[in-house]
Amino acid sequence: MKPIQVGLLGIGTVGRGTFEVLKRNQEEIKRRAGRGIEIAMVADLDTERAKAIVGSQVQVVNDAKAIIVNPEIDIVVELIGGYGIAKELVMSAIDAGKHVVTANKALIAVHGTEIFAAAHKKGVMICFEAAVAGGIPIIKALREGLTANRIEWIAGIINGTTNFILSEMRDKGLPFDVVLKQAQELGYAEADPTFDIEGVDAAHKATILSAIAFGIPVQFNKAYVEGISKLQAQDIRYAEQLGYRIKLLGIAKRVNTAASGAKEIDGVEGVELRVHPCLVPSKRLIANVEGAMNAVMIQADAVGTTLYYGKGAGSEPTASAVIADLVDVTRLMTADPLNRVPHLAFQPDSMSDLAILPMDSVRTSYYLRLVVADETGVLAKITGILAETDISIDAVLQRPGSESKQETDLIILTHSCLEAHMNKALTKIQSLKSVLAPIVRIRKEDLS
Ligand code: HSE
Repeated sequence: MKPIQVGLLGIGTVGRGTFEVLKRNQEEIKRRAGRGIEIAMVADLDTERAKAIVGSQVQVVNDAKAIIVNPEIDIVVELIGGYGIAKELVMSAIDAGKHVVTANKALIAVHGTEIFAAAHKKGVMICFEAAVAGGIPIIKALREGLTANRIEWIAGIINGTTNFILSEMRDKGLPFDVVLKQAQELGYAEADPTFDIEGVDAAHKATILSAIAFGIPVQFNKAYVEGISKLQAQDIRYAEQLGYRIKLLGIAKRVNTAASGAKEIDGVEGVELRVHPCLVPSKRLIANVEGAMNAVMIQADAVGTTLYYGKGAGSEPTASAVIADLVDVTRLMTADPLNRVPHLAFQPDSMSDLAILPMDSVRTSYYLRLVVADETGVLAKITGILAETDISIDAVLQRPGSESKQETDLIILTHSCLEAHMNKALTKIQSLKSVLAPIVRIRKEDLS
């Protein structure tokens, strides 16, 4: 049978990996897919560089539309990134009846609903394994491997750049800015690192995971997003002394607050979708995921806890996910579209309208660090405010302040409470005269 004909839109790092792995493992891949898979065309603005990678057997063009209109092409692989031209090309490819494989998390997280609807109408597949956690087959695991389960929550280290920075800050005791610069020099962080360090990249991925886990539409605009750029090395140190590590987690959690104990949210049902730095007990496996590695932890009712670990970026790890999608499409393209695995794991007419909860309704525990005047009664005032706002203290640590003998660092760990209550308490505590600097607040997840 004629090999499946693939057109690559963009041949950067991932495109090159895809080309090379397909070539190197072509026999194995063919035995699995039942047919050869061949890159027949590549579109890239830098045609010379593209030709140097793929050689003379592959047609190289500088206009992506030439691939989309070519009736010989079965699958279009979009590796351009971003929401602009990539969206236009993906929509045109669907319109032209092509199956699409993409590594573009931003595109899926923001425009997924429109893209999946168009694909459903046209009977084509949109595959995006490479969009979340690179080489870890997490979409496959959630959508197929765990299909018997009711998913309770997902917590993932899904951005390698920030995990590398946090690991270095902890290992070497260095400040964020210094480590970021090193990460850029080493090629772990981009020249403009905003999407990574401010949590946007992780939120794109968490949004996709939430949709597949709970059968809800992708709703990136409702995600709470907080990055690591304001994190201070001393908080990483204090967390460690208390038995925790700080990780940037993407969290998607199904909640039913009928028995929450907080009257404001009694009876609320929904999904928490949030990305922020988080204290995680050092003894958890996920807390020990270091450097640029990714890991995703899933809590599900039948299987319990599972953990998926691997490289979340890079040429061949991401190519591994792209090619797995190519094999899936090859195997399923002749199947009745209604019998394929649904894009978001649940049948399109069985999607849930569970709402993404506002951050005020989230319940979690907290690490607080306050720089306070070292004088009688300060602690009592602070704990008094926490008590009147319904916040119970788990542990308190006092350490000499770094700059003055009259100051002290007060570290408080709380039990789980409502974010709205914590905001109220922090406003009051911050206004105390004896609180000398902005309060540091980092959420804490026990992941048990
Ligand atoms: N920039 C991402 C990361 C890789 O640092 O994990 C691709 O998603």
